[in-house]
Amino acid sequence: MIRHDYWKEYQSLQFEEDDIEYFPLDPFGEVASTFILQSDAFINIAVGSIRSGKTIASIVRFLRYIQSTDYTYFAMAGKTLKALKKNVVRPMKGIMRSLGIKYHHRKSDDEIDILNMGKLRTIVLYGVEKKGSDEIIKGSTYAGAFLDEVTVMDPEGVHMLVSRNSDGDAKIFMTCKPGNPNNFVYTEYVNNQEKLANDDVKVVNFLIDDNPSLSPSYVRHIKSIYPEDSLFYKRNILNQWVSGQGAIYDKFNDDNIYDTYMPLDWYDFVEVGSDYGTSTTTCYEVIGIKEFEDHTQFDVIREYGYDAKREGVTQTDAQRVDDIYHLQEEYHLEKNNTFYVSHDATSLLSALEKDDRIKMSLDTFKPNTLECIQEISSLFYKNYLRIHKSCTETIKQIQGYEWDTKAAQNGEDKPVKKDDHYPDALRAPIITHSNQKEILAGVISF
Ligand SMILES: Nc1ncnc2c1ncn2[C@@H]1O[C@H](COP(=O)(O)OP(=O)(O)O)[C@@H](O)[C@H]1O
Ligand SMILES: [Mg+2]
Repeated sequence: MIRHDYWKEYQSLQFEEDDIEYFPLDPFGEVASTFILQSDAFINIAVGSIRSGKTIASIVRFLRYIQSTDYTYFAMAGKTLKALKKNVVRPMKGIMRSLGIKYHHRKSDDEIDILNMGKLRTIVLYGVEKKGSDEIIKGSTYAGAFLDEVTVMDPEGVHMLVSRNSDGDAKIFMTCKPGNPNNFVYTEYVNNQEKLANDDVKVVNFLIDDNPSLSPSYVRHIKSIYPEDSLFYKRNILNQWVSGQGAIYDKFNDDNIYDTYMPLDWYDFVEVGSDYGTSTTTCYEVIGIKEFEDHTQFDVIREYGYDAKREGVTQTDAQRVDDIYHLQEEYHLEKNNTFYVSHDATSLLSALEKDDRIKMSLDTFKPNTLECIQEISSLFYKNYLRIHKSCTETIKQIQGYEWDTKAAQNGEDKPVKKDDHYPDALRAPIITHSNQKEILAGVISF
């Protein structure tokens, strides 16, 4: 009865045909086919290497599941709504277009209506990164859900979504890369022997070689990004749940230190990263960036910092602006050079904006710690990131940068919070210019 009313209400709707490109599906490999055809537990998890086809297989599985039930409401979640829309909703719309499934994305509500054999189904979209995301989900009831990259979500939000899937024999589909073995997804689901034995949870493991849609040269390239004994190779390529131990930049060596300066105009960009601490260190890194056809080279040319603890006096923002001005003049930096302010250093940003002497463009940067570490360790390994030998604090802090073993026991991957100012200041120009993210996301192929 209710469904009939929905149908009437939406019958007149024009299901949108927007700019989404068709996503023609290749035949799936064996592992993806297993996931699509045999994930019939309450919670079904596609675990595995990056680019192994987990998300695409799960989208197809989720659509098939929706089409097979008589229920109306379903949920879909990503780390953030933005990530969900980019990584999942977009390919899903392309897949629906190529399969001839009509949909309407009600963007103001973050809901997608799907027309399935004359019946309307609604998928509600959620971002579940932050604490408190469970509050938004509370109260709703769903007959199924799809959670992409579940290890990086807030556990409370995930628990809430799982508990809200109570309509009949609801099914939940999740994807994730392996992470820390103390991550809640591993302890509560992937490695929960009781739930696995009861068929409450089913895990299907994916490897990059299981994805027949990737070209062999692209797969070779992806595998060469990380050293074979590194944390990220073990997780992203070998599909192993391991935690970081000891030195973070363990591939940093003398080859990453250079002593002959290149002329500044050799670089395509010269930019300045910063790290801001009122009672600790505020520091800056001048970085030269040169783009080659197959990679981008980063040279740390100059470090400059003020250590309030050592000096015994904290600096004012006006004094910091003076320091930044002197760096700007020393390296002849202008409008086409960017100075990156940490996202939380709002007072410094407004002091810089007010000072007429500052000619550099200003930008803010909000780091994702693990992504930055992954990127920078790969750059050291490839020797695409070099530090000038005069940058002694940077070299010292890179060598001393280590994983926090206590945090790892709680399932969290992060560095020990000490003497990390210089490595932190490197991040903005590097992450902004590195194309590795696009390579990993498949935007750049080989
Ligand atoms: N059945 C398929 N048909 C076409 N392309 C596919 C298919 N499965 C995977 N792919 C391709 O492989 C890429 C990686 O798949 P994806 O599911 O995003 O991997 P993961 O989620 O494991 O990182 C996708 O961007 C897509 O280009
Ligand atoms: Mg994915």
